[in-house]
Order: sequence, then C-alpha cells, then structure tokens
Amino acid sequence: MKLLVCGGAGFIGSNFARLRAAAGDDVVVLDKLTYAGRPENLMGVGHRFVHGAIEDPEKAAEAMDDVDAVVNFAAETHVDRSIAEPDAFVRTHGQGTYVLLEAARVRGVRYVQVSTDEVYGSIAEGSFTEKSPLAPSSPYSATKAGADLLVSSYFDTFGLETLICRGSNNYGPNQHPEKLIPLMILNALHGDKLPVYGDGLNVRNWLFVEDFARGIGHVLEHGAPGEVYNVGGPDEETNITVVRRIIEFVGGNPDALIDYVTDRPGHDRRYSLSSEKVRGLGWEAQVHFDEGLEQTVAWYRDNPEWWEPIRSGDYRAYYERQYGTRLG
Ligand code: NAD
Ligand code: DAU
Repeated sequence: MKLLVCGGAGFIGSNFARLRAAAGDDVVVLDKLTYAGRPENLMGVGHRFVHGAIEDPEKAAEAMDDVDAVVNFAAETHVDRSIAEPDAFVRTHGQGTYVLLEAARVRGVRYVQVSTDEVYGSIAEGSFTEKSPLAPSSPYSATKAGADLLVSSYFDTFGLETLICRGSNNYGPNQHPEKLIPLMILNALHGDKLPVYGDGLNVRNWLFVEDFARGIGHVLEHGAPGEVYNVGGPDEETNITVVRRIIEFVGGNPDALIDYVTDRPGHDRRYSLSSEKVRGLGWEAQVHFDEGLEQTVAWYRDNPEWWEPIRSGDYRAYYERQYGTRLG
C-alpha cells in the first residue's frame, strides 16, 4: 500500500509509520513540524517527507498524489495547551481535517481519522462504546469531536470511505515530555518535583503505543467504511498509582518528590473504552501496563540525546508558565 501519514513526525504517527514501512508499505509523511514534531522520530524509516500543514491545500495535494490511503494523526494534542491557547487546535482540527477530506474526496482515497476517547467526556462507571454520545470537556477534545463529525459527514454525504479510530491514553518511546508519563519519568530522573493535578485519583486507560499503531492498521485494512472503532488499553490506573510506580522504577522518595498542585480546569475524572468492536477485526492489546511502563522508563533513561534538546529548549518556558506558580 502507498500510505500518506499526516502528523507522522509525532509520537504515535512515527511509531505507526515505522511499523508500516517495516511491513513493506510505501510511506509518505506530511508534517508541519510543530514543537511536537521531530524528524529524528522517523530515523531509518525510509519514507518521503513533505514539510507542510494539513490545512494548506497545495501541500495536502502534493502529499496525497497517488496514495491508496491517508491516515491523519496531525493534531495539537496537549489538553493543558488547549486551555491556555485554543487557536491552533481549532485551525488544525477544523480547517486541517476539512482540507484533507476534500483532497481525499476528489481522489477517492480511503481516509482514516485518528481520534481519542476524550470526545466521549468522562465516565464514572462502565466503558464507552462507539454508540456513546459525544460530550467533550476541553477545547482539545471539543475540536477533535468536531473533526470526527466532519469525517462522518464525508461518508454520509459524499460516500468517501472514512474510518475513525478512537484511542485511549498512549504511552511509550518518543512521547513529548509535556504528557504525564514522560514528564514524571524525566522529573524523577532529575530529582525534580512531580506535579500531580488535584487529588491524583483521575483514571486513565493506558495503551502501549505499538498496540495502538497495530490497532489503527487493523482498522485501515479490515474496518467497514463509515464506522468508528474504539481502541482501548488493557489497564486502567489512577494518576497517583502511575506516578508512584514510576518512582519505584527510577528510584527516589515519593513523599519528597510528589507535589499535589492546582487541578486542571474541566479535568475529566475517568476514561474507559470498550474495544469489543475492534477485537472483532482481530486486534488485541499485547502489552500490559507494568511491562510497558518498565520498557518506557528504560527508553527515556537510555536516550537522553532524544529528550535533552527538548528539555533545554522552548519547553522550559512552557514548563514555567504551566507549573511555575503551581509548584510555588
Ligand atoms: P504529537 O503531539 O506527538 O504529534 C502530533 C504531530 O502532528 C506532530 O508531528 C506535529 O508536528 C504534527 N502537526 C500538528 N499540527 C499539524 C498541522 N496543522 N499540519 C501538519 N502536521 C501537524 O501527537 P500524538 O500523541 O502522536 O497524537 C497523534 C494523534 O493521535 C492525534 O490526532 C491525537 O489526537 C491522537 N491520540 C493521541 C493519544 C495520546 O495519548 N497521545 C491518544 C488517542 C489519540
Ligand atoms: O485519552 C487520550 C488522550 O490522552 C489524548 O487524546 C491526548 O492527546 C493525550 O494528551 C492524553 O490526554 P490526557 O489529558 O489524559 O493526558 P495527560 O498526559 O496530559 O494527562 C494524563 C493525566 O495526568 C490527566 O488526568 C492529567 C494528569 N496530569 C497531567 C500532567 C501533564 C497530572 O496530574 N500532572 C501533569 O503534570
């Protein structure tokens, strides 16, 4: 297959591109290279790279030329940044998704939208199915939900072969350290405070990134056009459990390191996905949380050349804005 991977220089997109290229696909990546996009994530993948934004119709057309399918990972992905500066979220998820859908429609190219469990909002008990109503809480999840609805409209209205894949919280190598797990690993390695929002009892459904990448591949190849597929991780954990387990792997005194800080506004309490439908396509998560977390801690410990340029760059200013007053 010749595949266009939009946002392929990011965390999940690069893991997906690597997997598909290794399996023999011809991979083209379109990426704007925001603060989260890193060409080094694609080292050794063997792909064609188009530098540009998905909301730029010329770049979208150039990248989509002659492909069999497009998988759209391109997004602004951090909830805290969407609260501070929603602008880019609206543009990328709204206009960007529209431009890609139009380019796919005129070429008749199968389109996979990579989406998130956050579009369903928070669930106290049980798990979200694909039929659960959308109830997003943050500018991030609201704009992702809007993008999903636009994708579905291209199936209903134009008959474009669309698929939507909603993943739960991913973790693993190459994740930007603004996110919970890499942030806590790197702070613990440096002996810095670990800022836990609120009471630390929010629950996330953890999915190892390679499992998600395989799940998206299953949906791309075997999914029914027009359908949505949830891809959830095998384990649910509270944030404080995750943080304490990271300290066990890295070393350090939890009481000295953990700092409970002001909560995130609109913070969803619990996410949980039912993945029964995608299991019907033959997918199963292979990596449990304890094993995946240990591998992830080892990867960050062994690859300082990957994260040192991030921690010493613009990230410092972001960290100061996000945590400076919270951490006192
Ligand atoms: P990421 O932030 O690591 O990477 C995003 C990539 O998109 C970067 O390479 C960035 O440069 C690129 N990008 C951003 N805006 C762009 C634009 N306008 N045009 C072209 N490229 C652009 O993100 P991630 O964590 O790998 O997430 C990938 C996708 O998976 C997103 O759509 C996200 O909503 C979804 N998702 C993420 C998770 C998670 O836990 N990280 C879970 C479920 C779904
Ligand atoms: O559920 C899928 C989503 O998971 C994806 O769609 C998003 O792109 C991805 O960023 C992620 O969103 P979350 O908001 O769940 O991830 P984050 O890593 O920001 O936070 C995970 C949990 O940890 C959440 O309850 C907030 C909490 N947290 C986070 C940070 C960064 C803290 O307690 N302290 C922190 O410093």
